[in-house]
Amino acid sequence: MKAAIDRNQDALNVRNVTKRFKVSKPPFWTRWRAQKGATGNGSTASGGRGGDAGMQGVVAIGGVSLDVHRGEIYGILGPNGSGKSTLVRMLSTLLIPDEGQVLVFGLDVVRHEMEVKRVINRVSVDAAFFKKLSPLENLLYGARLYGMTGGEARRKSIDILGRLGLEARSYTQPMDEMSRGMQQKVAIARAFLTQPILLLLDEPTTGLDPRSKYEVQEFVNELRDCHDATILITTHDMGEADRLCDRIAILDEGRIVAEDTPAGLKRLIRRNGHEPTLEDVFMQLTGKKLSGAEEFDPEPVEVAN
Ligand SMILES: Nc1ncnc2c1ncn2[C@@H]1O[C@H](COP(=O)(O)OP(=O)(O)OP(=O)(O)O)[C@@H](O)[C@H]1O
Ligand SMILES: [Mg+2]
Repeated sequence: MKAAIDRNQDALNVRNVTKRFKVSKPPFWTRWRAQKGATGNGSTASGGRGGDAGMQGVVAIGGVSLDVHRGEIYGILGPNGSGKSTLVRMLSTLLIPDEGQVLVFGLDVVRHEMEVKRVINRVSVDAAFFKKLSPLENLLYGARLYGMTGGEARRKSIDILGRLGLEARSYTQPMDEMSRGMQQKVAIARAFLTQPILLLLDEPTTGLDPRSKYEVQEFVNELRDCHDATILITTHDMGEADRLCDRIAILDEGRIVAEDTPAGLKRLIRRNGHEPTLEDVFMQLTGKKLSGAEEFDPEPVEVAN
């Protein structure tokens, strides 16, 4: 029997997923120098959360479980290297989990890769384009690949570029002459061409100016409200997460350390003379500071139940 997505199921069920990467050993002279220079008991450096990463690899995602309901905008926050992109790649069938299971609308991403691919789309900060072609040409190429007719492809491409606030004169300018922010908008526009019902956005607004960010956020909201899409978004912008997301998971060293609504997350931490912000929550739960963030003296976490 042919597998089919079931729209009445959760958009995403992630069950105890783990992903490890092999890390190549440093060259022998580096290890020799490190050993020679080591003081005390002469032990070699540890590879972080993977333990002896030089030998066993690094655990990028360690036993993550989460559910994203249909129609939600679900945010994932986490410091650099916490595993956000690795998780998104597994959800979008680009990486296979070592352990655990990922279901998209009830279908296993490994066993039913093609069916899942038809209903999802992913945008990442490192989107690839034909750099010598213009945004319009890139979108037309994508649209025809997705099976649209010439007329439909043109109409849709121009409509989406316009809605993302791209000026008409840049539709036909080569991509390699555009700013990174503008290229990022084109990447998002391309993902919207297929009207995916699950959209995976890996830092979609990184590098965009405030107005462009706003336009992208509005577009994400519109996609959810008017096209019945479910959106999973990673971001380093706490304000964006607060405004946009229904629920947020905070990832640290490959594990989820908290998951709740933005308001619920803020209730997790005690006030420290001021209203807690999502930045405060992030810093307290991950023990790391955001660049440009105010000093914040964390207090112990008070988990409400
Ligand atoms: N292809 C790979 N090979 C080896 N290690 C990898 C690979 N991809 C990711 N990693 C490691 O996995 C961990 C998680 O990386 P990942 O890119 O998922 O983090 P991230 O949360 O997306 O970070 P950022 O906020 O900087 O984008 C890091 O330690 C990273 O070095
Ligand atoms: Mg990343």
